[in-house]
Formats: sequence, structure tokens, C-alpha cells
Amino acid sequence: LTALTLININWQLEANASAHHTDKYSSTELIVRRGQAFTVILTFNRALQTGERLTFTAETGPKPSLQAKTQAVFDISSTASNSTWSAVQQSTNSSSVNISISSPANAAIGRYKLSVQPASGGSASRRTLGTFVLLFNPWSSGDDVFMPDSTERMEYVLEEFGIVFVGNVYRISKMGWNYGQFQGDILNICLSILDRSLSYRKDPATDVSRRNDPKYVGRVLSAMVNSNDDNGVLLGNWSGNYSGGTNPGSWNGSVEILRKWKDAGFKPVKYGQCWVFASVLTTVLRCLGIPTRTISNFNSAHDADRNLSVDVYYDESGNPLNMGGDSIWNFHVWNESWFTRSDLGPSYNGWQILDATPQERSAGIFQCGPASLVAIKEGDVDLDYDSPFIFAEVNADRITWTYDIRTREAKPISSETKSVGQFTSTKAVGRYDRVDVTNNYKYTEGSQKEREVYEKARTKLGRVHGFSATSEKRPEIDQKPEISGKFKVDGSLEIGKDVSLILVLRNLTSDAKTVKANMTAWTIVYTGKPIHEVWKDSFSSTLASEEEKQFPIKITYAEYQQNLTRDNMIRVTALCQIESGIDVVVERNITLDNPDLVMQVLSDAKVNEPVNVEVIFTNPLDQEVKDCVLQAEGSDLLKGKLTIEMPSLQPRQSSKVPFEIVPIKSGTKQLLVNFSCDKFPDVKAFETINVAN
Ligand SMILES: *[C@@H]1O[C@H](CO)[C@@H](O)[C@H](O)[C@H]1NC(C)=O
Ligand SMILES: *[C@@H]1O[C@H](CO)[C@@H](O)[C@H](O)[C@H]1NC(C)=O
Ligand SMILES: *[C@@H]1O[C@H](CO)[C@@H](O)[C@H](O)[C@H]1NC(C)=O
Ligand SMILES: *[C@@H]1O[C@H](CO)[C@@H](O)[C@H](O)[C@H]1NC(C)=O
Ligand SMILES: *[C@@H]1O[C@H](CO)[C@@H](O)[C@H](O)[C@H]1NC(C)=O
Ligand SMILES: *[C@@H]1O[C@H](CO)[C@@H](O)[C@H](O)[C@H]1NC(C)=O
Ligand SMILES: *[C@@H]1O[C@H](CO)[C@@H](O)[C@H](O)[C@H]1NC(C)=O
Ligand SMILES: *[C@@H]1O[C@H](CO)[C@@H](O)[C@H](O)[C@H]1NC(C)=O
Ligand SMILES: *[C@@H]1O[C@H](CO)[C@@H](O)[C@H](O)[C@H]1NC(C)=O
Ligand SMILES: *[C@@H]1O[C@H](CO)[C@@H](O)[C@H](O)[C@H]1NC(C)=O
Ligand SMILES: *[C@@H]1O[C@H](CO)[C@@H](O)[C@H](O)[C@H]1NC(C)=O
Ligand SMILES: *[C@@H]1O[C@H](CO)[C@@H](O)[C@H](O)[C@H]1NC(C)=O
Repeated sequence: LTALTLININWQLEANASAHHTDKYSSTELIVRRGQAFTVILTFNRALQTGERLTFTAETGPKPSLQAKTQAVFDISSTASNSTWSAVQQSTNSSSVNISISSPANAAIGRYKLSVQPASGGSASRRTLGTFVLLFNPWSSGDDVFMPDSTERMEYVLEEFGIVFVGNVYRISKMGWNYGQFQGDILNICLSILDRSLSYRKDPATDVSRRNDPKYVGRVLSAMVNSNDDNGVLLGNWSGNYSGGTNPGSWNGSVEILRKWKDAGFKPVKYGQCWVFASVLTTVLRCLGIPTRTISNFNSAHDADRNLSVDVYYDESGNPLNMGGDSIWNFHVWNESWFTRSDLGPSYNGWQILDATPQERSAGIFQCGPASLVAIKEGDVDLDYDSPFIFAEVNADRITWTYDIRTREAKPISSETKSVGQFTSTKAVGRYDRVDVTNNYKYTEGSQKEREVYEKARTKLGRVHGFSATSEKRPEIDQKPEISGKFKVDGSLEIGKDVSLILVLRNLTSDAKTVKANMTAWTIVYTGKPIHEVWKDSFSSTLASEEEKQFPIKITYAEYQQNLTRDNMIRVTALCQIESGIDVVVERNITLDNPDLVMQVLSDAKVNEPVNVEVIFTNPLDQEVKDCVLQAEGSDLLKGKLTIEMPSLQPRQSSKVPFEIVPIKSGTKQLLVNFSCDKFPDVKAFETINVAN
């Protein structure tokens, strides 16, 4: 008998990709999910004899070893195993053999090398068959990331487009995002992110062996998506000045960010903010097979000192002060990933919070999570990882102070328990709508249970962080306010128009006092960081018993135009001093709307057939706008980016821009357009297009 020699391997790419839900990846390499069998056909120089052994080796990482479970050696057996690697011969046909290879549901994910060694007939050299990529398997009940609902799997693993909710509690808007986890070389970039982590660089063998655990992979990635500590993917910048990089608000998707990172030789991409970090993390996790979604939280607290209370300071003129590490962001975005918590117990399985935005160090580096969503809701802030920080984001109490710059004296003005953590939102499964998940994070504000959980969390934190909930006195705010105030919006809030507000003050007492108010307006970025004062005023007035008075305010376009950041946000504050009474701070955040960009898809979309699209922009200003450019992009709809230069627009003039796209793949796709000119840097619109075959 001649020695058995391998002539060819057929990876059965199509059949395996379809069975493993990996057919969307653009790759010529086999991509399969763990805990599920895949088929290969081996062709030899002659037929395989009964009893002739074939020994397979599958190995991953630079130092594969049996002990670390990064190497598996297995012979052909008669039945498949679900706890170890195995190979079962399905059929044979003269010289070719159909073999079904299974991996265990807890195998490390990553790129594997597969080799085979015929163990008879003389020459017994091991022959490398090639490589394949093994991913997490949300379809397999034995996998930590198993997600039973098929429509949820479609959304959280396979959906390439999404929306992220941004804005403020008064106005939540949505932004289209191209996750693009299946595009071109994204899978390879995601794998190289793992190989550039601090833990891999320190000890590659151990790091690779731990890639069987979604908790570990999620935590490593939450550190790698930000560039702090480890030259990760994105550099954060909240300064309002983004020169030398891309404005975080200009990104449309993760693909261009990940490619930029790779093309620059793995140098951090400038710049990211929370929704960019979150969305890139979602891409990477979905790409590796961990079900993931992005969560937006409004009035999100950043509690640097971890005592579940956030302090906000104003000077006596009503200017917001950057003091202490605490802040409340207009919104914050993080991720939830779906997996089990073998470390905490089954009641903490399910959604786990991962936050890639560099805010605070955890175990010395900027990473956050995974924290169990159940643990956050129940106040179990002593459980791994970073639960106190995330608990505070949705639940902290808020204390407002005035600060006298000369005497350096801080005075508590008011304390309130409900405003932090509102409208916690994510995209609906299968629809472009907002779903409110606030109740997943906390019991209803104002309920007794919510306060009980808050107190439980403070007590547990006292044990962990060494302060006692009873001895650390919360500031006493002894007096009741004598007036109430609020800002009402009068008219529309659009860039280019004056901002009209009404300060409404109401006298709650029957005592004789007058009120003096210092008012300011500052442009801010979404984290609440003040950028520039654009307006101020003060007045003094007397209100009769129970009287309500209205004070109209106008901030003109000329006043705010120069200093508005791309977040389009202004914070208006009135510091009201009541003669020998307690001060009252009234504040309001406003977000100005960009002018409308209207996009219409004028015909049905079919693969390889032109589709007509029309975009209309109207100049809302009383002045000409120049340097107008319209750009369009969309995976599988357009090759690269389409750029159309437009003539200047006269005051109030509309312009209609027609163009054509030719889809190259069927399915649900997203078309993004972006209009920019000298006065409006980034006006965006998106449209979902169903492309038929
Ligand atoms: C056996 O041969 C047929 C016909 O050539 C082929 O279609 C089939 O794939 C082969 N089966 C295996 C296991 O190689
Ligand atoms: C290999 O065997 C599997 C399992 O019996 C079968 O589903 C598949 O069609 C076979 N492939 C080929 C090419 O014969
Ligand atoms: C493995 O298979 C056994 C027997 O078929 C089954 O009882 C067990 O649940 C399986 N385990 C996993 C992790 O799928
Ligand atoms: C923005 O930052 C760059 C680089 O640090 C600096 O040169 C420029 O003056 C800044 N622009 C503004 C408006 O602060
Ligand atoms: C943000 O970018 C600006 C403009 O390049 C730069 O001046 C500033 O130092 C950056 N801030 C941080 C925190 O990196
Ligand atoms: C959060 O998860 C989403 C996916 O759900 C991901 O896109 C994003 O990058 C993650 N963000 C952070 C900050 O972890
Ligand atoms: C308003 O500001 C001025 C100086 O900026 C200060 O002297 C005055 O006390 C402030 N008034 C109130 C009501 O805080
Ligand atoms: C939280 O800590 C800060 C800083 O240490 C302190 O000023 C504040 O009073 C504390 N708040 C509570 C409620 O303990
Ligand atoms: C509230 O009403 C009382 C009674 O009319 C009046 O004396 C007092 O000045 C008012 N307070 C304010 C802050 O205007
Ligand atoms: C306004 O936004 C800041 C953060 O930007 C936040 O601290 C504050 O609570 C918000 N105020 C209101 C009234 O929403
Ligand atoms: C704010 O606007 C003024 C003009 O109103 C301008 O001189 C200044 O550079 C602007 N500052 C920033 C930070 O944009
Ligand atoms: C986002 O998409 C728009 C529209 O195609 C494009 O003009 C813009 O350059 C893209 N942003 C980035 C950062 O590439």
C-alpha cells in the first residue's frame, strides 16, 4: 500500500457558512462558531482503509498547548462529543472522505490552524490543512453567549446598521450608525485588537487561553477600544476643539474608524466620544459573536468619588464651574452584551454592561465592566466589575452648590434624587424605534423600593470603599426654597434663529422679600463641560404672595454663533438670591436643531439597478451660505463616498440635489448623507433601503 498522502481539502465554505450563520462575512477563509460541527472533504492519493487512523490537530495562539486548551489533538471517532474536539467520518467515496469536525462550546475563539496526520502506511508527517476562525455561538444552548430568541439574535449579532440615541432629556434624537461587522477585513482587525491588548502583550499564552470566556473578552475589549493605557483604537477628546482629527460628531460608522486604526499602523484614531466608543465596541463584539446592543442614558452621572452623589457647582454670577471630578453628562452611551456569569451565579446571567469610554480607571487601566444588569438594579454594587460606577450613572443623587471664589466657601443649595438616569434607551429589535429600558436599571423613581436599593448600595459601598453611610454626613439643606423657577422655551430651537426663553418664577411664601437674579448662558459639550459664555443678564424683582412672574430672555444668533460646538448645546442658568433667604438655582439645557436635510428614495431598489435619490436642503439663515458639499455613503449601495459640490445658497433658498446609487447586494441597507457648508459643518440624514434581488 502506498503511503496515504493528502491531495486536497475542500472547506465546504458555502455550506458551513450557511449552517454557522457566518455567510455575511466577506472572507475566503472558513469562519465557524464553536460548539457546532462543520464539514470538510479531504481527498487523498488513494482510498482510506478501514482502521487507518487520521489524527487532527487544531491550535490557536503563539504557544498552543493541550494543558491551556489552546491545542486539541483528536482522531476520527464514531460519535461527536460536545465537550471536546472531535472528528466523525460521514461518508467516503473512493479517495475522498467527508469529515465533520466539532469544537466544544467553551473553546477559545480566534484563528486556528488545522492539520492532519495519517498514522499508517509509512510516511506519517503532519500536514497543515490551513486556518479557520472560530467565533462565539449565540445559537448554541451550551454557549455562554446563547441567546434563545431568534429575532434578538438577528438584531444583536447579525444586524449591521443601528441607531444611537443622543441629545438631552428634552429632545432625544437618533443618529444612524453603520456597525459594519461583516465588511471586508473587519474580522481580522477585530482579532488583531485582541492581539494588541496589554494582557496579550504581557502573557500571550494565558491571554489566548482565556478567550473562551466572554467576560474576559468583553473586559479586554472595553479597555482596547479607548486608546488610554494601551494604544487602543480611539483617542477621546471633549474639549470642543477637534483640530488635527475628526470631529466625533462626524463619524458615521465603525468601519472607517477600525480601518483608519489599522492603516495608521495601529495608532489611535482621533477623536472619539462616548457613542463612538460604544458603537465601535458593539461592532467588535458582534463581529466576534457576542450579542451586543448600545444603550444611551440621559442625565448620566459621572461619580468620580464613588459615593453615589454628584456635586454641581456655580459661582455667584451663575457661571457653571468645573469643580471636583463629578459631572452629569447630558447623555452617555455604553454597551450591553449578553452572556452568563459563572462567577456570580445564574441569577446574574443575561445582559452585562461594558463601557469603553475612558472615564475612570478600574484595576489601574481605563476599562469598565462587565457588570451584571441585575446587580445594578438590585444595588449589588459589591459584585464584579465596576458596579458602583455604573450604579451611579443611572442612580446618583444630585447636589447643587454655590461656590464663592474669594472665600472658597461652598454652600449647598438643593438636593434631588430623581433627575439622574432618565430615558435609558436602546434601539428596538427589528425596528428603528426607541425602546425605554430605564426599568431594567432601577426601580421607578419615587418608589420606596428605589430608595431601599439606593440605601443598600450605599451601605455595601461603605464596606468596600471604607466610608460609612451613616458617618459620612450628607449636606443638610435645612430651609425650604421660597420661590420656584423654571425656564420655558418660547418658539423653536433652531440654529440660525434667536433663542427665546421665559424664566418663570413663583413666590411660594407670604413673607416680604425680593429676588435678585444673575443669569448666564454658556455653550457646552454634551458632557456638560462649559465652553464659552455667550450671554448674561441680571435683574431684581418683587413677587406678590403666590405670584408667578415671567421674564423673557433672548439670546441672538449673533451672540451664540461663534461659540456653539457641534453638539449644538447651550446651558442657561439663573442664580436667584432671595434677601436673607436661601438661593435657588434654575437651569435648563437646550439643544438647537440643525436645519432639515430631506432625503427621498424615488424608486424601488434592486441589485445592480440604478436607484434615484434626491436630497433637499434649505438655507434657514438671512445670509448666504458658501462652500456647500453634499456627501453620500452606504455599505453595499455605493462604492466609497459620493461627493457633490453645490453652489452657494442665498438667504432662505432651497436646493435639490439628485443622484444615483447602484446597490451591489440585497438586504436592508442604510444610506447616509451629510451636508456641510461654512455655517453648518455636519447636517446628516439617513434612510433605510430594502434592496431586492
Ligand atoms: C462522492 O462523489 C460525488 C460525485 O463525484 C460527489 O458529488 C460527492 O461530493 C462525493 N462525496 C464525498 C464525500 O466526497
Ligand atoms: C458531508 O456529510 C454531511 C453529513 O452527512 C452532509 O450533510 C454533507 O452534504 C456532506 N457533504 C458532501 C459534499 O457530501
Ligand atoms: C452535551 O451532550 C449531552 C448528551 O447529549 C447533553 O446532555 C448535554 O446537555 C450537552 N452539553 C452541552 C454543553 O451542550
Ligand atoms: C484648537 O487647537 C489647536 C491645536 O491645539 C490650536 O492651534 C487652535 O488655536 C485651537 N483653536 C481654538 C479655537 O481654540
Ligand atoms: C483635543 O484636541 C485639541 C485640538 O487638537 C487639543 O488642543 C487638545 O489638547 C485635545 N485635548 C485632549 C484632552 O487631548
Ligand atoms: C457598547 O456596546 C455597543 C454594542 O452594543 C458597542 O457598539 C459599543 O462600542 C460599546 N461601547 C462601549 C463604550 O463599551
Ligand atoms: C450677581 O453677580 C455679582 C457679581 O458678578 C455679585 O456681586 C452679586 O452678588 C450676584 N448676585 C446674586 C443674586 O448672586
Ligand atoms: C461625596 O463625596 C464628596 C467628595 O468627597 C463630598 O463632598 C460629598 O459630600 C459626598 N456626598 C455624599 C452624599 O456622601
Ligand atoms: C412673596 O410675596 C410676599 C407677600 O406679597 C412679598 O412680601 C415678598 O416680597 C414676595 N417674595 C418675593 C421673593 O418676591
Ligand atoms: C443640564 O445638563 C447638565 C450636564 O450637561 C446636567 O448636569 C444638568 O442636570 C442638566 N440640567 C437639566 C435641568 O437637565
Ligand atoms: C467665541 O466667540 C468669540 C466671538 O464672539 C470669538 O472671539 C472666540 O474665539 C470664540 N471662542 C471659542 C472658544 O470659540
Ligand atoms: C460620514 O458620511 C458622510 C456622508 O457620506 C460623509 O460626508 C462624511 O465624510 C462621513 N464622515 C466621516 C468621518 O468619514
